[in-house]
Amino acid sequence: MLLAFPVVCLISFHFSVHIRNLFFACCYSLHLPIINAAFDPHRLKLFSSLKSITSANPELRRLGLIRIVEIGAGPGANLKYYPENSRVICVDPNPYFKTYFLRNQKEFPNVKVEQCILGVGEDLNTIPDDSIDVVVATFLLCSVSDVEQVLREIKRVLVPGGNYYFLEHVLAPPGTWRNIIQRAINPIWSYVMAGCNLSRDNRRAIQSAGFAAVSITSLDVNSPIIYLKLLIRPQIMGTATKGL
Ligand SMILES: C[S@@+](CC[C@H](N)C(=O)[O-])C[C@H]1O[C@@H](n2cnc3c(N)ncnc32)[C@H](O)[C@@H]1O
Repeated sequence: MLLAFPVVCLISFHFSVHIRNLFFACCYSLHLPIINAAFDPHRLKLFSSLKSITSANPELRRLGLIRIVEIGAGPGANLKYYPENSRVICVDPNPYFKTYFLRNQKEFPNVKVEQCILGVGEDLNTIPDDSIDVVVATFLLCSVSDVEQVLREIKRVLVPGGNYYFLEHVLAPPGTWRNIIQRAINPIWSYVMAGCNLSRDNRRAIQSAGFAAVSITSLDVNSPIIYLKLLIRPQIMGTATKGL
């Protein structure tokens, strides 16, 4: 009887994508204050240029607004960095983040979230070509099933000259002990953490995605939390600009 409960939990976790998504959404959202404490200064720096952007859309420009698509918005960690003139469309396949997202959204009522799409970054078919001023995706590429396709979709929806803002954790350099641990632990980590991969070279993926210009800053953010300290390092952040 004592053993039955953990066994049922493990079987449910294994066979139900809903339970895995619920588990990840709860874990991630509960850890958000710690993740924010570590990454706040960097997100602040990354998003500081958003306020100087003017929309390519004449109607939005007349109103002084810009349109942002955030892919993998999760609990809405980035909302607080968006300028008040932002009109945001969020895309995320995990419905269990909704409660946390709405709670966060209430704190920033000046940022208007126009739409929350329950979907994946690989297929942004409801968003027209060349229509979005800014695409934001943070800690996303580790989790998607097709990195190249997500980057193609980002490029497709951005207006010419528009910017993709990113912050990602990446595989440590070859020959380091962290690289060995990341690759060794990746199968189990990815299974438990809703497909998050520790072993992706997302720097190269962004650099070779065909953007006209890519600006990347390398980070090595530490944290007292053991998994952030050991596994979610190093990181990269920056912008990639679609050609005119
Ligand atoms: C690690 S969380 C990051 C959340 C948030 N962007 C942040 O920086 O705190 C990864 C997010 O990406 C979402 N996600 C996973 N696969 C995705 C995909 N293929 N397309 C869009 N979002 C995805 C997850 O549901 C989750 O909300």
